[in-house]
Amino acid sequence: MYNLLKGKRGIITGALDENSIAWKIALKAKEEGAEFTLTNAPIAMRMGEINKLAEKCGTIIIPADATSLEDIENLYKKSEEHLGGKLDFVLHSIGMSPNVRKKKDYGDLNYEWFLKAIDISALSFHKMMQVGEKLDVFNDHASIVALTYIAAQRTFPDYSDMAQAKAVLESIARSYGYRLGKSKKIRVNTVSQSPTPTTAGTGVGGFDIFMDYADKMSPLGNATAEDCADYVISLFSDLTRKVTMQNLYHDGGFSSSGITDAIIEKFKAEEVGK
Ligand code: NAI
Repeated sequence: MYNLLKGKRGIITGALDENSIAWKIALKAKEEGAEFTLTNAPIAMRMGEINKLAEKCGTIIIPADATSLEDIENLYKKSEEHLGGKLDFVLHSIGMSPNVRKKKDYGDLNYEWFLKAIDISALSFHKMMQVGEKLDVFNDHASIVALTYIAAQRTFPDYSDMAQAKAVLESIARSYGYRLGKSKKIRVNTVSQSPTPTTAGTGVGGFDIFMDYADKMSPLGNATAEDCADYVISLFSDLTRKVTMQNLYHDGGFSSSGITDAIIEKFKAEEVGK
């Protein structure tokens, strides 16, 4: 514990259950002295798991569908009221693609669902910043982080239209990062995380193989949700005040590896077994 977020106020989206990356970030933010509200889509509350997190963090939950401008406005107003001031950090940890969920083939996508995936997983990030800017809820030097995946840069067939959604999300971070940087020295970044066993993660076809491959392709091994929480806390802290408009790989070295000994060994073992 370093008290890195002492005196800071924020909003954490996307904690669905204890596997969620946002769940770990909330616990870590609390440990580091932050005060924040939690939010998720009204439909996600039905499971009731998030109540346990709110209790642990001594905070409230404000339901908000991240595609709804009215819900986001209400989220900011209630958060400011509850926390007693403007915000220093926001976590966007939201993703969903109906085409992925329903295992639609990439050559047979439903375009209404495609647009929905982009609205939920990418435009919601723009909406959160636009509404926040209009309501003037951010403090100077605030830090805004969204979670993303390397399928925005490279093709992972089962990731389907979420790859396009993540590319849009990362582009929004650059464009809005410029705007908020100029006006209030606010940082906007995306963190590109290793495959992580969560509800959203395991919804992608072939997830286990995917995760094993990524682990073998990363000299440091896959980054866990806890590791991700540590990294995101550093981005919310004052130690990273000049980092903005970046897509930051948090993946144990996966994104820079061509091949690794672990992969060679695996193929060798298969050759021997032939
Ligand atoms: P998760 O399933 O625990 O979290 C996704 C969250 O999005 C859920 O809490 C869900 O309720 C919320 N959500 C969906 N539609 C919403 C809406 N309309 N309004 C508000 N919230 C909504 O899974 P995870 O993995 O923690 O996902 C968090 C973020 O991390 C996502 O952006 C995901 O794409 C990203 N990510 C996940 C990786 C993985 O392998 N699990 C790898 C890299 C990035």
